[in-house]
Amino acid sequence: MKRWRNVWRFLPLLSVIALALTGCGNEQLTAMLPKGEGAEMQFNLMMLSLYIMIGVFVVVALIYTVVLVRFRRRGESDNEIPEQTEGNVVLEILWTVVPIILLLILAVPTVMTTFALDEGTEKVPEGATVIKVTAHQYWWEFEYPDLEVKTSQDLYIPTGERVYFELVSKDVTHSFWVPTLGGKMDTNTATTNKMWLNAQEPGTYYGKCAELCGPSHALMDFKVIAQEKEDFEAWAEKMKEAGSQAASDQAAQGEEIFANSCIGCHAVGSDGGNTGPNLTNFGDREKVAGILDHTDQNIKDWISNPSEFKPGNNMPAFGDQLNDEELDALVVYLQGLKVEE
Ligand code: CUA
Repeated sequence: MKRWRNVWRFLPLLSVIALALTGCGNEQLTAMLPKGEGAEMQFNLMMLSLYIMIGVFVVVALIYTVVLVRFRRRGESDNEIPEQTEGNVVLEILWTVVPIILLLILAVPTVMTTFALDEGTEKVPEGATVIKVTAHQYWWEFEYPDLEVKTSQDLYIPTGERVYFELVSKDVTHSFWVPTLGGKMDTNTATTNKMWLNAQEPGTYYGKCAELCGPSHALMDFKVIAQEKEDFEAWAEKMKEAGSQAASDQAAQGEEIFANSCIGCHAVGSDGGNTGPNLTNFGDREKVAGILDHTDQNIKDWISNPSEFKPGNNMPAFGDQLNDEELDALVVYLQGLKVEE
């Protein structure tokens, strides 16, 4: 028993360490440093409730301390039971009305923000960019119907305007979340959910799946690449024209392997299947499969045995079917699929 009492003494220390560690994080993946209009609105709500909670905490702690000190037992003789009171009308009113006021201060902006975040999703304003998001176990498909562009994993958006999303799922419920820009929104199979994001400055932001969807749920990452409007438009133009082109003999060999083994599931440009991620701009990607550093070796390892990195994903392992030389050629071809310089 005594041993345990000593352990408990470390509890305050552990709490302080925990408190300090909660400050650790990724600048590209945090709701606490908002870089989007929606994230800003949500951040303000969080701060409002935080200020109210701090206020309540300070008042309660103060009363607690005063009572503790003022009414403490003073020595052996101090055994009197204090005067017993009940039903103090002023106090009763006070501790009923004050919380109601605090809840109203919280509720009114929360409801207003909730409606504001939904603004325009039913009737998208003329000329706005609309993106169809389809979640798959465990990757993201992005389609720009007006621009006739389809891509995956890296979501390109223009900055300084609201971009409207229509979200669905191909298999189970996922949730589309870009904490730094705002969100999150479930993707379902039966219904289309809608939301918008508005990135204030160019940059790369990290996205996550925020709904437990299987063994690789935590690995279902994507990136948001926010660009100035003209850069975004140039990107979309290049994506529209992009297709399969091999720049060397090795790449040509890779292209042939791709056409035999991969194209059933993966499209480049508009050619190919749709059950796996579209690879039109694979060479520009931030990550391999959303999680691995974008290196030749990682691409080879991934193709050889995808389940090692993302358990439960649908891509078959090609380690037995392709030899090292073929894998190298495939990597050269895939790395050449670029639209950006
Ligand atoms: Cu998809 Cu979690």
